[in-house]
Amino acid sequence: MTEQVKIVEVGPRDGLQNEKQPISFEQRKDFIVDLIHAGLKHIEVGSCVSAKWVPQMARSDELYATLPTDHGAQLSLLTPNLRGLESALAVGCKEVAVFTAASESFTQKNINCSIDESLEKFADVMALAKANDVKVRGYVSCIVDCPYEGAIAPKQVAKVVTQLFDMGCYEISLGETIGTATPDRVKQVWDACLSEMEAKYLAGHFHDTYGMAIANVYQSLQQGIRIFDSSLAGLGGCPYAKGAAGNVATEDLYYLLSRMGFDTGIDEHALMLASQRISQVLQRANPAHFAKAYAGCN
Ligand code: HMG
Ligand code: MG
Repeated sequence: MTEQVKIVEVGPRDGLQNEKQPISFEQRKDFIVDLIHAGLKHIEVGSCVSAKWVPQMARSDELYATLPTDHGAQLSLLTPNLRGLESALAVGCKEVAVFTAASESFTQKNINCSIDESLEKFADVMALAKANDVKVRGYVSCIVDCPYEGAIAPKQVAKVVTQLFDMGCYEISLGETIGTATPDRVKQVWDACLSEMEAKYLAGHFHDTYGMAIANVYQSLQQGIRIFDSSLAGLGGCPYAKGAAGNVATEDLYYLLSRMGFDTGIDEHALMLASQRISQVLQRANPAHFAKAYAGCN
């Protein structure tokens, strides 16, 4: 049987959170519906965070509530605290994500608390989520370098990853937030984490600032990782990591995985339509290699 790889599409959240230009509620919705039609089975719809901190993610709970339900995709929301989870619960969301970092400085800039304080807040989030039968994913940012502190020790990453896992996160996504990592450094991080838990609980989240994201995915595949986050058209960045580019493009991740013989569940033609549409909405060229090659051949 063909081996499956899980793709978590984070374009509507990680992608759009960083856009300078206004994106309407309807455009966000159309983007997500296109992703569902393309066969993406895990889609991060938005974030229940302060609209003062991240304006593009305002009304993510309302957006969630307007999305179709007659499909097999798991739609999720980012929830940094109890207030965020309550917003997600109010619209019937069944999967949320909490997020912290392996770097103290980044955690302060991103969510205004220390790593330990973030974990204390998450304990309350985990308890309420569990009581409502909601799955919680965990994110750890700055797994290789931090924009404020520089290199982060792999054992520090493994420590935070293990803390989230022990709290009950069903899956932990390791964020290479600023896209500086090369595969050798990614290998060290996976080595440290895989000595604590099995690969099936871990996901790779690679930003592509230096064009290394797809190489880092390949490295991760070699070490048994089978879950990856990506953004259509390589959208994204983090408002608290200046200069960081978007995530690995879903188009390029799909190309790598499908041509290596993995099952992704994606409909190639529908993915390309979604890719063209979001590029038109944002009025810029799509950096994804597969999108460019496909447009040239079809
Ligand atoms: P705070 O200031 O410490 O919290 O912010 P607070 O409790 O004092 O509240 C401050 C204000 O926010 C208040 O409003 C609250 O009501 C409101 P005000 O009285 O000033 O009008 N507030 C909220 N509003 C909506 N939803 C909420 C909520 N909580 C409080 N849930 C907080 C703490 C976490 C809210 C803030 O720091 C924040 O919103 N940060 C944004 C973080 C964020 O979205 N970052 C980007 C996503 S993470 C990422 O991109 C990395 C990742 O992709 C992986 C990788 O690449 O590394 C995941
Ligand atoms: Mg990210």
